Amino acid sequence: MNDLTKFELKGKTVLVTGGAGFLGQLFGKSLADAGANVVLADLNLEASEKAASEISAQTGGTVIGVAMDVTNKENITTTIEMIVSKFGSLDVAVNNAGLDPKFDATVPTNDKQFENYPEEFIRKSLEVNLLGATLVAQASVRQMLKQGNGNIVNISSLYGINGPDQKIYPEGTQKPVDYSISKGGLVMLTKWLATSYASKGIRTNTMTLGGVIRNHPEDFQKKYGAKVPDGKMVGQDEIGAPLVFLASQASSGVNGCNLIVDHGFSAY
Ligand SMILES: NC(=O)c1ccc[n+]([C@@H]2O[C@H](COP(=O)([O-])OP(=O)(O)OC[C@H]3O[C@@H](n4cnc5c(N)ncnc54)[C@H](O)[C@@H]3O)[C@@H](O)[C@H]2O)c1
Repeated sequence: MNDLTKFELKGKTVLVTGGAGFLGQLFGKSLADAGANVVLADLNLEASEKAASEISAQTGGTVIGVAMDVTNKENITTTIEMIVSKFGSLDVAVNNAGLDPKFDATVPTNDKQFENYPEEFIRKSLEVNLLGATLVAQASVRQMLKQGNGNIVNISSLYGINGPDQKIYPEGTQKPVDYSISKGGLVMLTKWLATSYASKGIRTNTMTLGGVIRNHPEDFQKKYGAKVPDGKMVGQDEIGAPLVFLASQASSGVNGCNLIVDHGFSAY
């Protein structure tokens, strides 16, 4: 294995939660390009299967879509059992599923002030973004301990490490507290797992992303760009390779780190 072949994921099986979503599909394609067997797990079976078959057609790789709710322990366990019986192992688990709540300013209860922010929103985000990732990590670790190796990547956000500048968001669409506290928690989930399971051959890292460009209004791009050293949002083609790095042997010495892909937004 030379330094370049260390990036290859041939024969490795990777679970991507939230795999039918925007970034889940981008991650799935990059992982399949690197040779991995990819399992896209999302709430809706049809959406997962559609995403999987599209990526499979583009890459020629083995990509399957499954229905899995990250808040449902039995569901996670059954999915991992299926993965192991089909592919023989679960080598990498990517905790990507998430709720990125936005205010609908037209709903009267959705007062954008923190002091009136509905408790149910906070509970739901914590349940999916943080508890869900923890449950997936727990079930993955159970399998990875049997294998004697494994790799977990938690997808966090700029707003899990920095407070949002609400001035860049249009009225009524501010970044709420539940997103930040759940994404910040993932950084700590990474560190806890990294220190607790390194001796068992299981590495855990965070990949933190800045805003990934996707039909954002020009005005928003301008305001966001003013806060970034090179003025840019993250490109859709800039997130897959860093994930492949963390998922592969190329990062064998990297454990507990937070790889920040944000064009330097958080460096200020
Ligand atoms: N898009 C960005 O610019 C950006 C920036 C930083 C971080 N992130 C993070 O990246 C991840 C993916 O974001 P995205 O932009 O692709 O969002 P998205 O909404 O397109 O995808 C999220 C996916 O998670 C799935 N999901 C929600 N609840 C689930 C559950 N209980 N079980 C299983 N799946 C569930 C949704 O169905 C959806 O397909 C999120 O964790 C988000 O916080 C995104």
